[in-house]
Amino acid sequence: MISQDQYSDIAEAWIDMANSERNAYRLGVLDAWMLTAVGEVAGKDIIDLGCGEGRFSRMLAMREARVVGIDCCKRFINYATAHRVGGDSYQLGTMAELPCAEQSFDLAVSYITLVDVPELQPVLREAYRVLRPGGRFVVCNLMPMVTAGNHWIKDDAGNKLTFYLDNYFDESIREMPMCGGVVMNYHRTLSTDVNAFLATGFQLIGLQEPKPTPEQCMAYPDVDDLLRVPLFAIYDWRKYGEG
Ligand SMILES: C[S@@+](CC[C@H](N)C(=O)[O-])C[C@H]1O[C@@H](n2cnc3c(N)ncnc32)[C@H](O)[C@@H]1O
Repeated sequence: MISQDQYSDIAEAWIDMANSERNAYRLGVLDAWMLTAVGEVAGKDIIDLGCGEGRFSRMLAMREARVVGIDCCKRFINYATAHRVGGDSYQLGTMAELPCAEQSFDLAVSYITLVDVPELQPVLREAYRVLRPGGRFVVCNLMPMVTAGNHWIKDDAGNKLTFYLDNYFDESIREMPMCGGVVMNYHRTLSTDVNAFLATGFQLIGLQEPKPTPEQCMAYPDVDDLLRVPLFAIYDWRKYGEG
């Protein structure tokens, strides 16, 4: 087990959830926004940082990309390897020390994983190192305003009244219930996050706040939260240089 691994104890429950309708934010909203953000991927070399059990890596590989998924949870890597669809392969490792040569990828993706890392800078340096000049780093993460509090205030009947935001400038660990266990979220402010990318040398070329369509709300009723509170952001970062 790699020291950053928080998922081993909940790995089976996570795999079960990831492949079910309960994965509503991703299935119902975020996947479509992420696929739009990455654009055409056929023939591209992509690294998926914190690939989990591999569902987004598989989606990219099915679109004819060559994908390397990295995760620090052995059970996830075993599952992803057993469910390869073609151009995808998986390695146990940490995003903070990638087992990859420099300038070997056109695109890096992080799909809700940076909130899991205690220190951002080593991960960003590694992403920058393995990208080719002009390569992009598409990052979906929980909004910093959300990681500060991360729960709804509800009435006695369970209706969501308002989203809780407090202690925003307290950059400390928040415990997050997940799949019957708890994972640590490393809350950072928006300026800490953005300035860490800029300091690494990335240039921000796009920013999206995913919202569901009426059809998506019909198909996945839970996702209408996103019409009230921007739970997620998708950043499109670019490494300097000619692409
Ligand atoms: C919230 S899950 C997201 C998984 C996947 N990207 C998805 O969207 O389904 C976060 C993932 O990041 C991985 N992770 C967290 N810290 C890591 C690190 N330092 N190095 C590699 N993987 C890490 C976890 O093991 C977990 O699989």
